Amino acid sequence: AHAAKPSAPPMGWNHWNHFRCGIDEGIIKGIADAIVHTGLRDAGYRYVNVDDCWEEPVRDAHGHLQANAHTFPSGIAALADYVHARGLKFGIYTAAGDKTCEGRPGSGGHYAEDAATFAAWDVDYVKLDWCGAKGIPLELTKQFRAALDATGRAIVLGVSRHGSPWLWAEHPADLWRTSADIDDQWHSMLRNAEEEAGLSQRAGAGIGWNDPDMLQVGNGAMSPAEYRAHFSLWSILAAPLLLGNDIRAIDAETLRIVGEREVIAIDQDPLGRPGDRLRTDGDREVWTRHLAGGDVAVALFNRGVVATEIRTDAQEIGLPAGTGYQVRDVWGKRDFRSNGGISALVEPHGVALYRVSAAETSAPPLVTLASDARFFAPGETTQVIAT
Ligand code: GLA
Repeated sequence: AHAAKPSAPPMGWNHWNHFRCGIDEGIIKGIADAIVHTGLRDAGYRYVNVDDCWEEPVRDAHGHLQANAHTFPSGIAALADYVHARGLKFGIYTAAGDKTCEGRPGSGGHYAEDAATFAAWDVDYVKLDWCGAKGIPLELTKQFRAALDATGRAIVLGVSRHGSPWLWAEHPADLWRTSADIDDQWHSMLRNAEEEAGLSQRAGAGIGWNDPDMLQVGNGAMSPAEYRAHFSLWSILAAPLLLGNDIRAIDAETLRIVGEREVIAIDQDPLGRPGDRLRTDGDREVWTRHLAGGDVAVALFNRGVVATEIRTDAQEIGLPAGTGYQVRDVWGKRDFRSNGGISALVEPHGVALYRVSAAETSAPPLVTLASDARFFAPGETTQVIAT
């Protein structure tokens, strides 16, 4: 039987963004250990997912997929055991056609036997790619889902983008890509976020999750402000949070970003309703997400290269009319009170991320900044001046 859809977007790690085809079992084990000792497992990151290039170039004599004998000499079952022993889950990659995107054997013509192989290895998550697949993506996904279900093991299924999977009348997969592959570059991250604008109605708890691709936070080519914007937008979108950095060598700034519990809580919110872009005005954007209990998460997002003031208000973001609102500055870890206006001077390529509730509070007022305020303390994402 088909296991229930995940009630929140999956969280974990995948090797592709950092390691590409330079991957081996020692790295995967080191990452599993690092997820535990950094505290990221306890922050919610559970899947350790192997991507393309784990295979031998050919199937074995019995037609089974096999791990590369040089880079994965202990085999996948032993690696999955190692990951499971650390309280984590294990994922793997295949493709719907004859070959993977890197030319390794794909599952085309072998769905039942490959699903059985994965289940025998105690795999918990399969990423299904499309390179070279022939056929209708929805039909192939249904067939692959049926093959996984026939094993009796609960396995999460994530599919790549081919056509518009978010428009499918049925959702045999648990998550589906909405855009091209993400690079560790501002414009790539921005493009993937924008491609999801307008798609929030297509996903959510009980349906499945839009996937703007894996995280690049910590891979080094974006600034801390840009990585905070990346992580904040992914949380508003209810995106899967699959880290793509080398967690064995994670620095304090990266750990602070991806370990930020209040942002993770927005991503994993129990209402399970993805957020969306509410408004654009040049480089100034407002993104919102409705949360359990009536709170609204709001990201004031500055796409530009100079600090700029971005404004919204309680009514625009969908809160009921009232006289008092509590505004939590999620990155700044401060609470304010507002009588409806919500604004900040936002750093270049940055966000101010707020969690707003319709509640009276005695916190200091949130007020607009003087327009000539252009300076930020290190690590400060927003400037708010209380009068
Ligand atoms: C495709 C996917 C990527 C990655 C590579 C591996 O490009 O979209 O996420 O899995 O294949 O070859």
